[in-house]
Amino acid sequence: MKTGVGHGFGKLILCGEHAVVYGHPALAVAVNQGATVRLRAVEGPTHVVSPSIDDPRLLEAVISIVGESGWAVTIESDLPIGKGMGSSAAIAVALVRAFAHSQGQSISLDDVYAKAYAAEAAFHGTPSGLDHAVASRGGMLWFERGPPTVMRPAPVPPFPVVVIDSGSAGNTKDMVNGVLSRRPAVDPILAAIGDLVPKVHAALLDPASLGPLLLENHGLLKDLGVSTPVLDQLVDLAMAHGAHGAKMAGAGGGGVVLAVTPSPEGLVEAANQAGFASFIAHAAPIQEPA
Ligand code: MEV
Repeated sequence: MKTGVGHGFGKLILCGEHAVVYGHPALAVAVNQGATVRLRAVEGPTHVVSPSIDDPRLLEAVISIVGESGWAVTIESDLPIGKGMGSSAAIAVALVRAFAHSQGQSISLDDVYAKAYAAEAAFHGTPSGLDHAVASRGGMLWFERGPPTVMRPAPVPPFPVVVIDSGSAGNTKDMVNGVLSRRPAVDPILAAIGDLVPKVHAALLDPASLGPLLLENHGLLKDLGVSTPVLDQLVDLAMAHGAHGAKMAGAGGGGVVLAVTPSPEGLVEAANQAGFASFIAHAAPIQEPA
């Protein structure tokens, strides 16, 4: 019986969400959480055996990669869904890898990226490509939407980040469309976010310099209209507990805040006490080309 298995990484954007859609650079890191897809050849239509994920767009993405018939698809993901950690891109990458594996093919990183990008469009229209670049490549990535698309490895911070879940999910497509509808008035904010990215790049190994830049990025995302009162509250909570800096991460409208702090365990505990799920995320290693 034919089977296949593949994995895609989750991600956190350190700087550049939304601005990256309009050609500005972004920096994002793959995390040690993600999605694993298992395929099993079956008679009849392709279907998803996936109790924890109930999204009608999922079958569309699955079929675009493995075809309309012949597969039972199991998806395991330990990423919070719709929380800015790239769960849909991780699933798309895992599907592409699982299908290649089921066919006995080795697949290049560029092909994984291109196929996952095409499928990802089912989830949110015209993604920049950042999420699935990181989901497929791992490590820290400097990304610029093409043409030509730039994907360059960047230094991976040697320290973990704390992730705090606001408890509500955002809809990436709606958030991206919302920013589009506020252009050109918000273009200076998008440009200011783009200008922060080289500074963040230069501070990746130094939490004390990185923190204030993250905070500045959060302020700009707030001005852009994609933060929420709860996300702002979580940034304040992180700062009140001694973080170097914090920001919402991802499309916003809900989702998570990331914080860089000298005391990760203390912040997780403080967030939990305030009623918010929180965990420490570590960077995932760079994926070697197949
Ligand atoms: C979503 O993770 C990041 C956004 O910049 C959208 C995109 O890049 O496609 C908000």
